[in-house]
Amino acid sequence: QKLLGILSSKCPVFMGLLRTVYAKFFFYDPLIRFSPLFLLFINRKAMEINHISILMAMESEASPLIESLNLKKQNSIFRHGIPFEAYQGSFEKLLITLMTSGKDKDYQVDNVATQPATLMAYLAIDQFSPDIIINAGTAGGMAGCGCKIGDVYLSEGEFSYHDRRIPIPAFDQYGVGSYPSFDTSSIATELHLKTGRISTGNSLDYTEKDLEMMKSNKAVIKEMEAAAIAWVCKILDMPMFAIKAITDLFDQEIPTETQFLENLTLASTNLQKSVPRILRTLVR
Ligand code: ADE
Repeated sequence: QKLLGILSSKCPVFMGLLRTVYAKFFFYDPLIRFSPLFLLFINRKAMEINHISILMAMESEASPLIESLNLKKQNSIFRHGIPFEAYQGSFEKLLITLMTSGKDKDYQVDNVATQPATLMAYLAIDQFSPDIIINAGTAGGMAGCGCKIGDVYLSEGEFSYHDRRIPIPAFDQYGVGSYPSFDTSSIATELHLKTGRISTGNSLDYTEKDLEMMKSNKAVIKEMEAAAIAWVCKILDMPMFAIKAITDLFDQEIPTETQFLENLTLASTNLQKSVPRILRTLVR
């Protein structure tokens, strides 16, 4: 990995050519395509990452990270009425733009869930043209799958929804959706982080049917923004992954909201510790 990094910085044109040839001739050979070396070489090195946009729903999730990355608030970025906030700064060789979804004017709470997340993702891409988007935040975890309070997970496979039920042929599948995550496997291995499939819905709690859908999505993590952001990224061809810190174990007796409020500070602190380590793996 180090050698690839050195070669990339010393002879970028040659390495770029090599990657193109490698991808062109070996991409469809499953034996090579799924080998760890190929994934490392193609997925992470072919992509030059200079600018990362981090999207976060809640101010309390984002504040410790904004402070530790020393990001500065950017004023007058969005048109009047858009509630989102943007912060910018450099980290190692990266330009970081972090957006939070701001407060609802009428209710004075954070603009959580899929509606603001979709708009925030669109504006992040349109205004800042990052090389990759990271959705960072808190989430519920399935205790039955080994999740623990405070764990930090990287997204794996595809993002889906668990509460968009449209029982009409083809619309049923559209409702669930399937939006790809950037391959985080090598980051997870390097940093010893857990990975899991993420399922998104617009409620903090869930119905029996939601749980059934989450199980059928093979989801380990339950949250309220990632699939919406991943949908925008899919249609606009933008690589994207999520980093989620666990505030609650949703398949346990204690009400989710009680666990969430109790563990929000711990989860946000763990995000603040993990995100810079993850960003560092993307620099090279
Ligand atoms: N955010 C944190 N915990 C959550 C949960 N259990 N469901 C949805 N969003 C969450």
